[in-house]
Amino acid sequence: MTASLSLEPIETASRDELIALQLARLKWSLMHAYENSPGYRCKFDEAQVHPHDLNTLADLAHFPFTSKKDLRDNYPFGMFAVAQDQISRIHASSGTTGKSTVVGYTARDIDIWANLVARSIRAAGAKRGDKVHISCGYGLFTGGLGAHYGAERAGLTVIPFGSGQTEKQAQLLQDFRPDIIVVTPSYMLSIADELERQGVDPAQCSLRIGIFGAEPWTNKMRHTIEQRMGIDAIDIYGLSEVMGPGVASECAETKDGPTIWEDHFYPEIINPDTGEVLPDGELGELVFTSLTKEALPVIRYRTRDLTRLLPGTARTMRRMEKVTGRSDDMMIVRGVNVFPTQIEELLLKQPTLAPHYQIVLTKEGPLDVLTLNVEPRSNSTSDIATLNLAQKALAYDIKASIGINAAINLLAVNGIERSVGKAQRVIDRRDQRDRHSSP
Ligand code: DLL
Repeated sequence: MTASLSLEPIETASRDELIALQLARLKWSLMHAYENSPGYRCKFDEAQVHPHDLNTLADLAHFPFTSKKDLRDNYPFGMFAVAQDQISRIHASSGTTGKSTVVGYTARDIDIWANLVARSIRAAGAKRGDKVHISCGYGLFTGGLGAHYGAERAGLTVIPFGSGQTEKQAQLLQDFRPDIIVVTPSYMLSIADELERQGVDPAQCSLRIGIFGAEPWTNKMRHTIEQRMGIDAIDIYGLSEVMGPGVASECAETKDGPTIWEDHFYPEIINPDTGEVLPDGELGELVFTSLTKEALPVIRYRTRDLTRLLPGTARTMRRMEKVTGRSDDMMIVRGVNVFPTQIEELLLKQPTLAPHYQIVLTKEGPLDVLTLNVEPRSNSTSDIATLNLAQKALAYDIKASIGINAAINLLAVNGIERSVGKAQRVIDRRDQRDRHSSP
């Protein structure tokens, strides 16, 4: 048996120690943004606040929010707080509408990022000698390189596969026998399908841990993946504007929502309509302030992710509830608010249907129509009558628990287009243009 990797001292520090560190770092971060980023100086001056106004962590509530729009308005590098010769790397998040958001890192930012992803991988239960297969995209997306540097920093063996070439991914999983995979949950399912197509039972493969993120996924999906792959499925959270993967990550011993690495990111939950800060435990929009970032400090960055802050369990740092929706993902169907993950939960109750799905929204006269594309499990031997029953049961569950009528459209196996990164769950054709749910 190989040894588990040990914790950093800050991971077991007391709340008081942590709060003192956060306050000192927050003062530095506000001053750094004010003095070195013209965009922030302008925002603070307009809001008539100065970094010296912050005496306690709660005073942060007086400072203005930052949004994706601020980054877009200052495209590409206008929010950076260091000279260009200090920037050692650039990433960008791919938006489906408008310009992408560009983010930059100094060498120290990259170093801290690697440490935090290494911390996340250790929290997931990595052991010395583990091999990590990375199936997140490399390039401007932060997933691949973020996971890569972190796995290297943790002292593990990295297999930098990247996304796509699913057939080859499945082959190398058999040949290289990795212990850990880092990938989006939806792409994990596609790789599992491919393993089965190659005649391999995914549960028999060498993987022990899957580290999944970059898109909302439910606990029900966690159980589906764990059973199918025979692994522990761990949730890693992050966003490019705040850093990339590893802003928060789950601890294997509890698997109860990502622990926020609060020594580097200060979280708040706000009412998305009023901007008011909500107490811990209440559901709202997650907002982050970076505490140590040099190249692109973010002050009160509105993530659009809906969650709540929970007390620490495996660590003293607080947790966030698993993110199962973004405010941008919310569909309003005949006046009812619906998140794709609500439908995901109900779909996964049907043993004859595959966990792949896509929601298409159209109009019939003035009325919204929601069509849910599903498909049978690839190894299913179910006859059409059984599948029709599953379709009916799913429509019934959606009506009973969400309150909307859904037309369940049963496609052939592999009928739903697969993504090799973030799944595109919603196609909104109500205004005749495709509007996509995730960035
Ligand atoms: O998706 C960074 C990342 C890569 C995280 C790999 C984890 C693993 P962006 O492309 O900027 O960055 O997208 C960020 O993805 O605001 C969430 O809406 C969503 N997201 C990320 N992780 C999770 C997660 C990367 N674990 C946006 N659960 C975020 C739910 C997630 N949603």
